[in-house]
Amino acid sequence: MTKESLTLAGGSLSVDLPILEGSVGPKVIDVRKLYAQSDMFTFDPGFTSTASCESKITYIDGDKGELLYRGYPIEQLAEHSDYMEVCYLLLFGELPTPDEKAKFVHDITYHTMLHEQLRNFFGGFRRDAHPMAIMVGVVGAMAAFYHDSTDIADPHQRMVASYRLIAKMPTIAAMAYKYSVGQPFVYPRNDLSYSGNFLNMMFSVPAEEYKLSPTLERAMDLIFILHADHEQNASTSTVRLAGSSGANPFACIAAGIACLWGPAHGGANEACLNMLQEIGTVDRIPEFIARAKDKDDPFRLMGFGHRVYKNFDPRATVMRKTAHEVLGELGVEDPLFDVAMELEKIALEDEYFISKKLYPNVDFYSGIILKAMGFPTEMFTVLFALARTSGWIAQWKEMIEDPAQKIGRPRQLYTGAATRDYVPLEKRG
Ligand code: SDX
Repeated sequence: MTKESLTLAGGSLSVDLPILEGSVGPKVIDVRKLYAQSDMFTFDPGFTSTASCESKITYIDGDKGELLYRGYPIEQLAEHSDYMEVCYLLLFGELPTPDEKAKFVHDITYHTMLHEQLRNFFGGFRRDAHPMAIMVGVVGAMAAFYHDSTDIADPHQRMVASYRLIAKMPTIAAMAYKYSVGQPFVYPRNDLSYSGNFLNMMFSVPAEEYKLSPTLERAMDLIFILHADHEQNASTSTVRLAGSSGANPFACIAAGIACLWGPAHGGANEACLNMLQEIGTVDRIPEFIARAKDKDDPFRLMGFGHRVYKNFDPRATVMRKTAHEVLGELGVEDPLFDVAMELEKIALEDEYFISKKLYPNVDFYSGIILKAMGFPTEMFTVLFALARTSGWIAQWKEMIEDPAQKIGRPRQLYTGAATRDYVPLEKRG
């Protein structure tokens, strides 16, 4: 760590601020003592230049389009790993041994059932409620049912709550879908894989046997891997901030789900598919490209651009390949896929997108795959939240176990009224 002095404007003040260096990536200026030494804050709305924490979990190189989970490139994990193994890796930092993996999968499997009383929650929602609204409500309500895993000071309770959340998200997500279509809930099955069990709970009906497609099971698992974690994005930062107050893990994950719902974040996959449907045909693409470039038009190309990636999102590259495989396996001729491919081609040749380094992100192709798999558009962000739960929990665990952690409490640049005296009602107007 090198000591570097930061001389402020006009030389009126010289402040020594340490420079911290990580294992890879940009160094950081440690400003923790800046206010005490200068009576000034840093100012960074949207935190575009701010490292909010130290972490060992996920690393992104936005310029190279690189994504590492605990050092392993996402492309290698997508090809060789599975979601349960990735959950273990994110949580504990190393790939599991065969015995460790078998025990982890067993422990998660035996937490997939939901407290029977929680089924009553679903009956209180309108059938046409957005499933993300149900997810926020039911996950938050888990704190009212699993009191034996809400004490965050107890490592054992933290572990149980973590396993419960990873295990029960698929069950809750599938129940939200079944409720919306008026079909009976399907209980988890311990003889199926994590992703196979989810597909069974989603699409099987009591009236006939559900034939689980190995291709769709693998595609589902791959989509979960690609969405598992992504450094300090908006929803992960929300989970960390909520957790920094000592809130229980169910409340923290419910907060993350709420944040992910936004169309600028996890809601982009649903928004992207709706946009592709609005475009409809290849010949209407120029009209929408023009709107995306028009400063006076709030329209943005959903599934394009990223706060960090100024190159291809490596997840989008894997997702595009998977889209080809799934549509080919299903024999689905989806014109939206043709529109997406042509839109990507045109946008990547357009000066506006090139100059602003806007590339397809993880949400650009996911919707096409999920639609082909039979998921309704409203479920897309639910699947993102399901997969991201492992990342949120890993980041929450890392923060809780960090001896230096304290409640997050940003400051502000105040530009409101200075002190002034109260004016009685009769003297106003
Ligand atoms: C996710 O953070 C994460 O890691 C998130 C995520 C994860 O895994 O957790 O990767 C998941 O959220 C992916 C992103 C999904 N969102 C979308 O696809 C929505 C569309 N994209 C945009 O809203 C936007 O690109 C953001 C929000 C993703 C990023 O915006 P930034 O970094 O805040 O950049 P910006 O909004 O300041 O845009 C920079 C410029 C602007 O033009 P200028 O004002 O400089 O002239 O690029 C333009 C923007 O107008 N721009 C776009 C655009 N995205 C940015 N113009 C048209 N279409 C777009 N999609």
